[in-house]
This record gives sequence, C-alpha cells and structure tokens, in this order.
Amino acid sequence: MSETPHNNIESTLVENRLFEPSSNMVASAAISGMGGYNALCQEAADDFEGFWAKRAKQHLHWSKPFTKVLDESNAPFYTWFDDGELNASVNCLDRHMGTPTEHKTAIIFEADDGQVTKVSYRDLLTRVAKFANVLKAQGVQSGERVMIYMPMTIEGVVAMQACARIGATHSVVFGGFSAKALQERAIDIGAVAIVTANYQMRGGKELPLKAIVDEAMALGGCDAIHTVIVYQRTQTAVNMVAGRDYFMHDLEAVASEQCEPEMVNAEHPLFVLYTSGSTGKPKGVQHATAGYLLWAKMTMEWTFDLKDSDVFWCTADIGWITGHTYVAYGPLAAGATQIVFEGVPTFPNAGRFWQVIERHKATIFYTAPTAIRSLIKASTSDESVHPKNSDLTSLRIIGSVGEPINPEAWMWYHRHVGGERCPIVDTFWQTETGGHMITPLPGATTLVPGSCTLPLPGIMASIVDEAGHDLPHGAGGLLVVKRPWPSMIRNIWGDSARFKKSYFPDELGGTTYLAGDGAVRSEERGYFRITGRIDDVLNVSGHRMGTMEIESALVAHTDLVAEAAVVGRPDDLTGEAIVAFVVLKGARPEGEEAQRIAKILRDWVGKEIGPIAKPKEVRFGDNLPKTRSGKIMRRLLRNLANGEAITQDISTLENPAILDQLLKPL
Ligand code: WTA
Repeated sequence: MSETPHNNIESTLVENRLFEPSSNMVASAAISGMGGYNALCQEAADDFEGFWAKRAKQHLHWSKPFTKVLDESNAPFYTWFDDGELNASVNCLDRHMGTPTEHKTAIIFEADDGQVTKVSYRDLLTRVAKFANVLKAQGVQSGERVMIYMPMTIEGVVAMQACARIGATHSVVFGGFSAKALQERAIDIGAVAIVTANYQMRGGKELPLKAIVDEAMALGGCDAIHTVIVYQRTQTAVNMVAGRDYFMHDLEAVASEQCEPEMVNAEHPLFVLYTSGSTGKPKGVQHATAGYLLWAKMTMEWTFDLKDSDVFWCTADIGWITGHTYVAYGPLAAGATQIVFEGVPTFPNAGRFWQVIERHKATIFYTAPTAIRSLIKASTSDESVHPKNSDLTSLRIIGSVGEPINPEAWMWYHRHVGGERCPIVDTFWQTETGGHMITPLPGATTLVPGSCTLPLPGIMASIVDEAGHDLPHGAGGLLVVKRPWPSMIRNIWGDSARFKKSYFPDELGGTTYLAGDGAVRSEERGYFRITGRIDDVLNVSGHRMGTMEIESALVAHTDLVAEAAVVGRPDDLTGEAIVAFVVLKGARPEGEEAQRIAKILRDWVGKEIGPIAKPKEVRFGDNLPKTRSGKIMRRLLRNLANGEAITQDISTLENPAILDQLLKPL
C-alpha cells in the first residue's frame, strides 16, 4: 500500500483549457447542469438508503419487491435489497415485450469480415429462452456455474443472458487467455459446463477456441464439467468428444422457445469474473444480480445520457467487465440499440472503427485510450485511415475507459472523432465496482483533459492517507469509497479472507473500499485525477495484469528459470509495458543466445497465461538486485526498466555489479 503510483504516461502536453457542456446537451440531458448533479448528490447525502431504494424500484422489475435496502450488519459483506427477487434476463428482455422496444433492434452485429446481422429485442428474447432451455436440458441448474469462452458475437451475449435466465452463474474468460488460464478458472469456480465456439475470427484469421477448451480439459481437474456446447462460428471442423461435446445449433433445434425465468434472490451471484490482483492467482470477482443490474442500467442513462434514438457502441470484449456491463447487460436493460463488433480496429485497415460508426450511424462511442493511441499513430503514417475520411457527424457522446487517457490522446479524440462537439466521458471504474464510479456527465460537467472529474451521485469517493484520514485537495493519496454502493463486488469467489484484506484493509477501518489506485483532486474544482495503481498490478493496453502472476508463470519454466521479477514501464502506445528481469539456471546468455531464450520465455508466458501477458522485454542477470535481507528492490528495477538514473541508496545491495547487466535492453 505504500508504493508510489507508477502507471502514468509521461505527458508532454499541458492542457489547461476547459470544455464546457453545450447548452443543447445541458437542456436535454438526464442530469442537467451542475444544479442537477448537486441536487442528486444532496439527495444521496440526506437519505442514502432512500436514494437507492427509489431507483431500485424505478429501474428494475421485481417478482418479489424488497423491503430491506442496505444491510451493513456483516460489513464488509454488504447486501442490497436482500429480500427481493428478480431475474436479470427478464430485466433486460421480457421487460420490453409489449412496449415499442419489442420490435426495436437490440443488436447490430458486424462480423470481422463486415457482414451485418440484426436482431430485435423480440428475436433476442426467443434466442435466449431457447438457449436457456438447452442449458437446462443438459442438466445445468440454478446456482451452478457455467464457463463462457466465446468470441464477440450475438451468441456470446445470448449465452450470458441464458445463464442469467436459469439462475446459473456465468464466468466469461476472454478468448485471448490460454488453456492453462481457462483450466485454473474452471477449477476454481467448479464449473459444470463450458460454452465455446469452434473458432473465432479476428483480423481475417481463424483462431481456435474449442481446441483450447480440449487442451484445458486435458490438463485435468475439471471433473465437474459434463458438457461442452460449441457454437459453430466457421465451417472448419473440430474434434468433438461423444457424450460431452454438442453443437449449439443441434441442441437448439429441439429446444422450446418458451423458458420460464428462474426468479432469484437479489444477492444471487449473477457472475464471477476473474481479474488480476497484486499477489497470487487471479481473483474471482463476484457480483450480485440486483445491485449490479441497477447500476448497469442507471449509468447507461446518466453517463451516456442514453436516449431511445441512440445507437450505442462499446468496443470492449465480453471477456472483460466493460463488455459485461456495457454490452451484455446495461444497453439491454436500458432498451438501447447497440453495435456488437467482432473484429479488431486495424482490419482490414486502421480506419475500421470510423467506418463502422459511419455505416451504422453510431451516436455514442466508448473505447479504450490504447485503441485511440494506436489509431492516432496509424493515421499519422497513412492519411487514408484518418477519421476525417468517415462521416462521424452521427456521434454525440464519446467515452474512454480502462486506463488514464493522456491529454494528447484526449485532444485528438475530441477534435478528430468528436468533431469538437461531443463531450468525452473519461470513466474511471474497475471490475470490482461493476459500473462507472468517477466520470464526467455529458450535460453537466466542465471537462478537463486527463481528469475523470467527479464521482457519480451516490458514490462516496474520497482520497485518504494510509491511516484513512481525508486529504486536502492537491494532495495525492489512496482512492477509497466510504459507503457501499449496489454494484460493488460481493466477495472473491471462495476466498473471503482475501476479499477483506484486498479491499477493506484493517488499516482503513475494515469497512472502507480501497480501490488500489492513487489519486489526487485539483485545487480549483476538486476534480479527481487517477495517478496509477498503488499495488503490483500493471495496466497494459487497458488489460489488468498482476506482476506476481507473470513471475509465477516465468519460474514455472523450471528447466530454464531460477528467478524472475516483473515490473511495468510507461509505454506511449500501451500505457504500460511489461519488463521481465530473469536469472537463468544456467549461465547468463548474451547476444543471439539471449534473444533466443527471451523468445522461448515470452512464448512460454503466452502459453501459461495468454498472449496479452507476454513481456515486451526480457533482461538477464546473474542475480536480481536485493537488499541484504533478500528482498527484491522493485523500485530499482523500475528505474532500470525505464532507463532512469538510480538516485536511491544502493549501499544495502548485495551485488551492485548486476545493475550494469540489467541496465540495457537486449
Ligand atoms: C484503471 C476496467 C484512469 C485503474 C473498467 C483501475 C483507469 C483499473 C480508468 C481497473 C480511467 C480504469 N482513468 N485509470 N478512466 N479506468 N482505470 O478492472 O487503474 O479492468 O484500477 O476495469 O484500470 O481495471 P479493470
């Protein structure tokens, strides 16, 4: 907790301009002007439970109304609306039947190759009900867990919603994770079934999914899994195990289109999504049905100011929390038309995002700073992929998520994508928070590039020192949330002790949520700026990676590796880049031999975790810099990775000579 934040991209641009909301936006927005914002904050301050209860009644359909709101008696295991009952898929689909939304387009699917498929809310409900019956016919029961390892497709969303419909808890694993990562998660959660696809299409390439599921199963330990359901995304054949593997279309052909939803308790786990922490294995972040869904829907309407005529596009994969809240649940609960895009931003060219916006007349666009930075770079070297070649006038709000957006990228996004007209909502949140926490509001907030501005009404965010005392504006400290909120993490699957220790440390009193990020508030406006993680979590292209996780993967190569330490360094494109310092069992390699072994280790990490975890750089030393007590000096390694001068005291170092070995990239 004492580390200084470390994932700032160095910014060369100091942008002091302010961007006021337009009068049109103020006039029409759900939260209108700072007056509107302040009134809601006041309402939450005056009657916290009443504030949330009112909205839970207004936004959700309950089969059994709740009488309790927040229960803090077992803090930090808070519960919300605990005696109420509902179903998430009813709240995303059935609720729209018999309203004008029934025949509205729910999803505009654009495939990797540009083919477009549209489904209405009515069609989507039919598909979800059918697949829910498929799961039931395979013996999946309420309360059991189902893994989803799917590409970005309508079928991926259908699988998630179908689990919700029968009360099964889903756990989606991003298609870029390895067999090992999938197996570990399936064991941890005790999954009974896996839904996957034969292949996924990305950038014109057919990449295996089912074969990786087979590999994961072959690693052993997934004994509870009795069924693997395969969506046939492409025509290429895959190995099918008799009695275990079934094609989605075969099972659906004999399934009914009617499926009574299973009503569950408000606190019933809707899903568990694994994310990286600072120590050990990834944590299974557990979310509750009602609170999560409430905030998913409310933030669609507050942060994105969703209107009936909007065409919403969130580019995140369903394998991440952003794809859960702002693809699979929020837009549907709010009755939006949304684009689901299968491909990558650079195929067939780096103008693809802009072409998709033009083609489907997207009005709200939500993506990650890494994507923006890579598209800036691409359009600098190739004018033909610049956003100016596409008609982006349909856009009215644009958003950013997952990592800090540097002012240069902000200004480019504002100018070239937003046409200097669209507010940018720089949304700060986390897998654990379920939905947006600190973000501008399009019709209220004066924007400052690089700042996520102010907490949403009802979110009691604050900055404190290590003893939990509030810090004045201008002073950097720990970002915390002082009161619970409905969409907060409920537990780490199977590890309540780790849940308490990670998020509600005793040092802060045991009931305050510790986000794990450093932050500072501006003197003038009290705006929040996130300064980076305070733990050993890296943010590479908006993907969370634990340094310990990568270190464990490296030392698992027992033939080669004796010891490894991993740190992040700022990277202009990916935000942070992974640098691994490795001590081999044999002699320290040099020249081509070093390159060869570095590649073996990078590929190894790719297999152990997934390609996104491959270190950008590997450096070899005879040893690692350690204090006399044997502790690895990570700060020093960060300086080395950065090519920075060593300013700290190294007199306690065992072997100062190794600094020279580790100083230079291969
Ligand atoms: C970082 C993604 C700065 C932060 C939704 C957080 C951000 C971690 C922002 C969570 C932002 C997310 N500005 N930093 N707007 N949004 N982060 O769980 O370090 O994948 O703790 O959730 O991303 O990443 P996660």
